[in-house]
Order: sequence, then C-alpha cells, then structure tokens
Amino acid sequence: MTLAFAVSPRKLSSMREKKPPPNAAARLLRSATKVMRNAYAPYSKFRVGAAILLSNGKIFSGCNVENASYGMTNCAERTAIFSAVAQLGPRIEIRAVSVVNDQGVPCSPCGACRQVIYEFGPDATIFFQGANGPKQAHITDLLPEGFRLQ
Ligand code: THU
Repeated sequence: MTLAFAVSPRKLSSMREKKPPPNAAARLLRSATKVMRNAYAPYSKFRVGAAILLSNGKIFSGCNVENASYGMTNCAERTAIFSAVAQLGPRIEIRAVSVVNDQGVPCSPCGACRQVIYEFGPDATIFFQGANGPKQAHITDLLPEGFRLQ
C-alpha cells in the first residue's frame, strides 16, 4: 500500500516550523509605528510602540503607558500582549514581536517584557532596533533559561 501526501513533506515542515512569515517584520513595523503615537510618556518622553503576530495570523499592538509612580509604567510590549489576551483569551501563541521608538535609538524589550513574551511565545522572533540597525533575535537568545511554572 502506498501513502499519498496531501501536502509535500517540504511544505509540511514549513507549516510546522514556528518562523514568522517573510512579510511579518514589515507588517509588524507598520503596526508598531502607528500605535507608538498613542504612547503616554510624559516622564521619559520616550515613546514606544510594539506589535505582536499570533500563530492565528492576528496582529495586536500596544504603546507604553507611564505613571507618576514610575514603577507602575507599562511597556509597549506588555500592553500589546495583555490586550491580545483580553481580546482572545489565554491560549494565544506569539510568533513574532516588533518594537519601535520615536527616537530611532537601539531598544530591545526590557527584562520584564522578555519574560512575558516567553510566557506566550517560547519560540517567538523579536524584531528591534540594535546598535547597528534593525535586528532580529529568538526570544531564548534574549532570555536564556526563561522561567516556567511546571
Ligand atoms: N519602554 C517600552 O515601552 N519598551 C521597551 O522595550 C523599553 C522601554 C518604555 C518604558 C518607559 O515608558 C520608557 O520606555 C522609558 O523607559
């Protein structure tokens, strides 16, 4: 008996892999840049926008929201992730994240955001501004040994 594949093995493996599609970086950049304008950053004057691509193809975005009690500030990345959870529930899977700022300076997600990204996207790709221009990195390169409750 022969087994026929509905899809070729090569296609099957590209469907299984968690890499974001080739247009993800550009789409996320657009979305993050747009939402950055809504940032509430009267203290740092550093506006940040973030966008996340989920495995279901949906994009959510968020900006930083500061507070007079500085520690209560919410970063753009976490705003985007919390908004996706609020909208879709906890079973989201983050495939990619893009973060931009209004000063064009290097800015990768902070440590707290890396841990939150890891929670919902242990295989996520992060697009950000590095010291020598646009960069991308796997979340586990940014956050080795991320914490998980078993
Ligand atoms: N910020 C973000 O929103 N995301 C980052 O990746 C880095 C920092 C915000 C927090 C704060 O409102 C401002 O940038 C300065 O730290």
